[in-house]
Amino acid sequence: MEVTDEFGREVTGIRVSLTDRCNFDCVYCHNEGLGDTRGPMDPQDDEMSADEVVRLLEVVSEFDIEAVKFTGGEPMLRNDLAEIIRRTPDQLETSLTTNGTFLPDHADELVAAGLDRVNVSQDALDPEAFAAVTQSGAYDRVLEGVNAAVEAGLTPVKLNMVVFEPTAGYIPEMVEHVAESDGLQLQLIEYMPEIAGHPEWAIDIERVHEWLAEQADRVERREMHGRARYLIGGGLVEIVDPVENPSFCANCHRVRVTHDGKFKGCLNRHDDLRSTGDMSKAEIREAFVETVTQRVPYYGEYLVKEEGEWVPNKEYQQHALLPANDD
Ligand code: 5AD
Repeated sequence: MEVTDEFGREVTGIRVSLTDRCNFDCVYCHNEGLGDTRGPMDPQDDEMSADEVVRLLEVVSEFDIEAVKFTGGEPMLRNDLAEIIRRTPDQLETSLTTNGTFLPDHADELVAAGLDRVNVSQDALDPEAFAAVTQSGAYDRVLEGVNAAVEAGLTPVKLNMVVFEPTAGYIPEMVEHVAESDGLQLQLIEYMPEIAGHPEWAIDIERVHEWLAEQADRVERREMHGRARYLIGGGLVEIVDPVENPSFCANCHRVRVTHDGKFKGCLNRHDDLRSTGDMSKAEIREAFVETVTQRVPYYGEYLVKEEGEWVPNKEYQQHALLPANDD
């Protein structure tokens, strides 16, 4: 049984944060819309247990969900990640978004557990720029991690590169890098200031589209998000450009789950979290259906454009589950 929201958007994917701990401290990080990532590195009580994650995935599988992406924080900080992947319902394509530092030691184990694919955050090809963005010195380790993922068969390994002032200059090198390397794709992600702040770091993503179109041997349009894909010298490059983009929101087919087990209908909102109660299957089912049916496209509906400005749609403010905080 498929569930669809009032805007005709069926939900086919779920993105589950397994922890909000992270061994990096990327300057751009939106942390799934939940604020600061800094904090203790050891397991925290508020995190869903493996049993809870699996139960939740079993429930959403009843609703024709096709894919799960585990995320964080850094999901590989979970000691029970392989167990969670092993127990994930078979019908779900399983992927991971990671900073890559733990892949050298664990890629094979995760593949054996059933992991299909991986996204690795790699924002630059230069150790110094990398250190400045991630506030970490693990550049070599990340490159090793990417290789380990390719060798373990987690291909295509997608490199996530956030495009903003500090990284935009590295786009040509990154494009060349994926063109020259087997098993890699590049995903250029428009910097989202909505939660992370610093709108002045944003750059005009249209210029990136134009530059790629000039370089490309071929341009394809993907159905999902109407995203363009650029084939350049044997490499594949995609742009994810959600900012102020109603057609991106109109094509959003995923809901999220926070590390502490709440459904979240939209990355950019913090007033639509739904608790899964004590996690009985009935409660999870109810929370999921409510989350999906109440989902609203952020740009174009939750925010509407008036005289050239995006302003909140008053209709949704009255219905918010939690008061919006303004920090
Ligand atoms: N803007 C764009 N992408 C972001 N990510 C995290 N924060 C932001 C942001 N503010 C993406 C990065 C990372 C993934 C986990 O989330 O691409 O790889």
